[in-house]
Amino acid sequence: VDADAAWADEVRRLAERRDAVVLAHNYQLPEIQEIAHHTGDSLALSRIAAESEASTIVFCGVHFMAETAKILSPDKTVLIPDARAGCSLADSITGAQLREWKAQHPGAVVVSYVNTTAEVKAETDICCTSSNAVDVVASIPEDRDVLFCPDQFLGAHVKRETGRQNLHIWAGECHVHAGINGPELAERASASPEADLFIHPECGCATSALYLAGEGAVAPERVKILSTGDMLHAAKETKAASVLVATEVGMLHQLRKAAPDIDFRAVNDRASCRYMKMITPAALLRSLREGADEVEVDEETAARARASVRRMIEIGK
Ligand code: 13P
Ligand code: SF4
Repeated sequence: VDADAAWADEVRRLAERRDAVVLAHNYQLPEIQEIAHHTGDSLALSRIAAESEASTIVFCGVHFMAETAKILSPDKTVLIPDARAGCSLADSITGAQLREWKAQHPGAVVVSYVNTTAEVKAETDICCTSSNAVDVVASIPEDRDVLFCPDQFLGAHVKRETGRQNLHIWAGECHVHAGINGPELAERASASPEADLFIHPECGCATSALYLAGEGAVAPERVKILSTGDMLHAAKETKAASVLVATEVGMLHQLRKAAPDIDFRAVNDRASCRYMKMITPAALLRSLREGADEVEVDEETAARARASVRRMIEIGK
């Protein structure tokens, strides 16, 4: 038995002993994605966490994801293999900043991306993820102002799709996705004129892709702005022989599994999230052995955040 097989056996044995379900985000290391009971995007994993009958959830992802699972299931034990796995996007707005922004727009509906802290969610009316952000905003009566935070690129995507002028957007960003830039995308796309472009809406290059399509530099039907989960559906449907992927590089693992005949290439192969990669095989093993790191959200904050997260998992089902 080689080391990897021994590791996998031990992870499975400990997970069973703890009555734990292991969830992994699409950006996790391939070995973590393979050992998990479920792999998916933020929305799919939130739904699975809410419906799971296991008494423990081991969340292989970043802290706000594990926190969201705890908000939905306060009676379950929620573990993250390394509590230091944060998110630069979630750090781009605090609860105090959101309270101040709300005070400037009385009566506005607050829509927060799930990439936020529990404190921000507690100040939010409806949370969303990249797969249902457009549906969430479209569900709000036209005459109400909307405050959308924290991601400016996802906000711009929602504004384009809904045509909504009363959508105010916070200027936050994810350092990984913002770093996948327009000139890089244009260069890759012109070198592979036959490739589809799968672009995550958090990317700085999403606007450039639409601009390239508008200018006729890229065929408009080749440009697809998709959440990580929707990229997998699109991979199974596309007729293209190659796809340029603009998101965190962990995504390539599931895409290649879903459509082995397609040549998937990263637009920027340095787009790796160091927080996601803190969940190493050794960290997962330690987590299951020691029951650490446990994620806690104080009762009052969780109670206030729960309604906005529940709305998120209901919309776009
Ligand atoms: P999705 O899986 O919802 O597309 O989210 C991407 C992301 O950046 C999570 O951190
Ligand atoms: Fe946060 Fe960006 Fe990492 Fe996703 S990729 S967890 S948004 S820092």
